[in-house]
Amino acid sequence: MGRKFFVGGNWKCNGTLDEVKKIVNLLNDGKVPSSDVVEVVVSPPYVFLPLVKSTLRSDFHVAAQNCWVKKGGAFTGEVSAEMLKNLEVPWVILGHSERRALLGETNEFVGDKVAYALSQGLKVIACVGETLEQREAGSTMEVVAAQTKAIAEKVKDWTNIVLAYEPVWAIGTGKVASPAQAQEVHCELRKWLHANTSPEVAATTRIIYGGSVNGANSKELAGQPDLDGFLVGGASLKPEFIDIINAAVVKIA
Ligand code: 13P
Repeated sequence: MGRKFFVGGNWKCNGTLDEVKKIVNLLNDGKVPSSDVVEVVVSPPYVFLPLVKSTLRSDFHVAAQNCWVKKGGAFTGEVSAEMLKNLEVPWVILGHSERRALLGETNEFVGDKVAYALSQGLKVIACVGETLEQREAGSTMEVVAAQTKAIAEKVKDWTNIVLAYEPVWAIGTGKVASPAQAQEVHCELRKWLHANTSPEVAATTRIIYGGSVNGANSKELAGQPDLDGFLVGGASLKPEFIDIINAAVVKIA
């Protein structure tokens, strides 16, 4: 069985009602490979989730950009995994570096969130990635392994996890990782999963790349053997998102 290519569009904190309607129309008109080849999941801000879910083509799905670490209740400003499940939002992005860095989400906290979201029946795009300082210090693998370990310690079943490698220095900078740089980390992450979870988890878990992916660089990146898709920020709000989806290449597990 192959690892179906996965393309996520993280809209982050962007969009007005009119803009969101335009993006949905663009996606609905896009010509893309069948859902046997590529799984497409877009992640609008919470407030637009019901609208996007109800107007988006049925072969594309939606993700929330975060959810609360445990059962909802007296937590002002949070949105629970139960609520997402109740609205039939199938996916959630957790551990994005913007939340780790700006809001102080620790590896352990992200691990707890992933475990809780999975326990409620959500599927998770779990993000890991090193900063420029960490890369230059030669600690890339140590950093992403520690981030992945904090998840693996809390989770036994990886069926509903997609692991997103997003080097912080490549996010929103226009400075994409080279295909070789991305492949190296993806390959190491897969080896890490092999050694620390199981050979089956390593063979079947999709490891996707995020950081300045665009219509022009997506083809070569998609050809790397351990790169199973993308998590796209800026370009997911533009027509070139369709080109990125069309870069899909299924990898043999
Ligand atoms: P950019 O594609 O804008 O670099 O963002 C990547 C990202 O953070 C996706 O989650």
